[in-house]
Amino acid sequence: MGDTRTLLLLVLVLFYALVSSVGAYEEEESEQRTQGEKWFLLRQLHDVVRTDAGSMRLVKGGYRRGSSLHSPMHIGFISMEPNSLFIPQYLDSDLVLFVQHGQARIGHIYRDKLAERHLKHGDVYTIPAGSAFYLENRAENERLRIICSIDITSESMGWHAFQSFFIGGGVHPASVLAGFDHNTLSTALNVSTEELNSLLTRQTSGPIVHLSGSHHTNMWSKFLAQEPHQKLAHLKRIVNFGGESSPKEEETTWSLRKFLFNLLNREDVVKGVNHKAPSTYNLYHKKHNFKNDYGWSKNVDECDYSPLKQSGNSVYLVHLSPGSMMAPHVNPTAIEYGVVLKGTGRIQIVYPNGTLAVNARVRQGDVFWVPRYFPFCQIASTNGPFEFFGITTSARKNHPQFLVGRNSLMHSLRGPELAAAYGIGERRLKRIANAQREQIILPSSSSDSPHDKASEPEKKMANFKKIIGNLGSDMIMGFE
Ligand SMILES: *[C@@H]1O[C@H](CO)[C@@H](O)[C@H](O)[C@H]1NC(C)=O
Ligand SMILES: *[C@@H]1O[C@H](CO)[C@@H](O)[C@H](O)[C@H]1NC(C)=O
Repeated sequence: MGDTRTLLLLVLVLFYALVSSVGAYEEEESEQRTQGEKWFLLRQLHDVVRTDAGSMRLVKGGYRRGSSLHSPMHIGFISMEPNSLFIPQYLDSDLVLFVQHGQARIGHIYRDKLAERHLKHGDVYTIPAGSAFYLENRAENERLRIICSIDITSESMGWHAFQSFFIGGGVHPASVLAGFDHNTLSTALNVSTEELNSLLTRQTSGPIVHLSGSHHTNMWSKFLAQEPHQKLAHLKRIVNFGGESSPKEEETTWSLRKFLFNLLNREDVVKGVNHKAPSTYNLYHKKHNFKNDYGWSKNVDECDYSPLKQSGNSVYLVHLSPGSMMAPHVNPTAIEYGVVLKGTGRIQIVYPNGTLAVNARVRQGDVFWVPRYFPFCQIASTNGPFEFFGITTSARKNHPQFLVGRNSLMHSLRGPELAAAYGIGERRLKRIANAQREQIILPSSSSDSPHDKASEPEKKMANFKKIIGNLGSDMIMGFE
């Protein structure tokens, strides 16, 4: 009995010691939030859309005026409630979509026809800039979550913004049709101005709407029910107000006219479903590009999935087992973005001058980006696997250069020149360069390693959790 009490007391004392040390550590870390961390960890989520039926949030690429540290991409998070619609729109930026959770139906214009595709967990799909599309979550009880990359092209209207052009709409959001002079528009549609007003003023619930029930405000279903076939010709005329499109535009997928035509002529839509629009690509089903005992990685570029040619992006997925790390490496031709999907870990990024820019703990939903040429590595916490999804800006062969490991630059260069560069003997260099037998994904350090100070508290926590049970599981939270 006495022994049990002593043991309990000891556990409690250890618990408090641990909690206070972790607390102190985290405080210290937040104080030390470096300039680099502000640049490379994209922690500011902005609401782009927020309605009852869903939201779209964005982290803007780390852009600093007059600096080369400028990111050409935003990462967006779309969340849609069951039975909702992201109303038809087109963007001035290329989109790459990745379904993180749930299922989606996406409709978009491809070579002048409306294509509909069913997207499920792990699917990748692309929407070129200017191509009208809508997104639907038809599930009865499953939320849809999509991660997307938004390329900021030179044609974008703002330096670090992108613009949605809503086709359907009303008071909120406004439809691009509403911008036309109403007399002209009513003539073109061949409807009275009253009818036109009712068309363009009903929608008040924002860009993401509920599809059924009391919230039923989907302008499209009403419009479709009201309007007879002969209105199509007029709609065609409306969208040609902007003048004839150039041959180049004809070639690309831009065609608001056809989009409207197809939306209004549902029979055509149904027939058009199975034409040659790109199919989806499932990242989880792809075979590994690299795999060893410590994790795996998969990446998909334009050779695997040709629609990526348009945006010039490629996507990847990395899974690290507890404590493992992606060996320090650099991307010679691409800027890389990562979004943490599972677990916690650490990102280290190094400036070209050999100083540490970032050494930050990241968890689910965190976004980081790494400029071209900057050395970096990702390390999984010891308490669970670490998985992240990413996008690189170049689908052309970006061949990461590893700095450490069996396939590394250090290993290839391990001759007298490199020895001289380090100012050590060649044999010593060889011993160091050959010590790591693994490559790309490296095992965790042995627990008594003195070099691993950074993850010390995580290790304590992991050990502690083994003793006490899963007390700390709420430390890993969703980004919602
Ligand atoms: C306009 O609508 C009227 C009444 O529905 C119809 O008789 C007429 O043919 C329409 N005009 C055109 C050009 O479609
Ligand atoms: C290294 O480069 C970074 C970023 O340009 C700078 O903030 C830092 O002061 C530099 N450090 C040294 C030691 O030159």
